[in-house]
Amino acid sequence: MSTRKKNILKVIILGDSGVGKTSLMHRYVNDKYSQQYKATIGADFLTKEVNIDSDKVATMQVWDTAGQERFQSLGVAFYRGADCCVLVYDVTNTKSFQNIKSWRDEFLVHANVSTPETFPFVLLGNKIDTDDSKKVVTNKAAQELAASLGNIPLFFTSAKTAINVDTAFQEIARSALQQN
Ligand code: GTP
Ligand code: MG
Repeated sequence: MSTRKKNILKVIILGDSGVGKTSLMHRYVNDKYSQQYKATIGADFLTKEVNIDSDKVATMQVWDTAGQERFQSLGVAFYRGADCCVLVYDVTNTKSFQNIKSWRDEFLVHANVSTPETFPFVLLGNKIDTDDSKKVVTNKAAQELAASLGNIPLFFTSAKTAINVDTAFQEIARSALQQN
């Protein structure tokens, strides 16, 4: 018997402009990738059916947001009912990594979650396909951040090559289902 309260898992992707939020969503949902950068305006979602533990199916609603707009244009209602929040930084961009904590803190305020200590976040270090010489955020620093945010799951991904994208979203679905 299912204990789920609703059929839709609401997932919100946050992070600085250009880290690859839209690209990750498109890679995951459509298995497509574009080199061209087009800043997201407002917010939009795509859905995907997900299998969890081979016996459960759910519909994941993945909300992509605009890094440029921070939290300005999306109302509080947008964040309510979120089941998981995905925090994305770019491994070649220090600032995007430093901003992760503030994305998380702002999310908690806006979503007004009742138990911030246990709310599921997943951290993604994206663009792992890039040359080692361009990587400025160490894996160790990322692991320390994930630990300090309550041992949240951490994945190093590439929307470009698809490395770890499915694996990460499996974990996102799993943690969203637990919250749901
Ligand atoms: P905003 O909509 O402005 O918040 O940005 P975003 O986070 O949605 O970034 P977007 O997905 O549009 O990607 C920005 C740029 O980075 C694009 O040119 C992408 O092609 C590129 N990009 C995204 N993911 C990857 C990746 O995994 N590797 C590499 N090398 N480039 C990537
Ligand atoms: Mg975008």
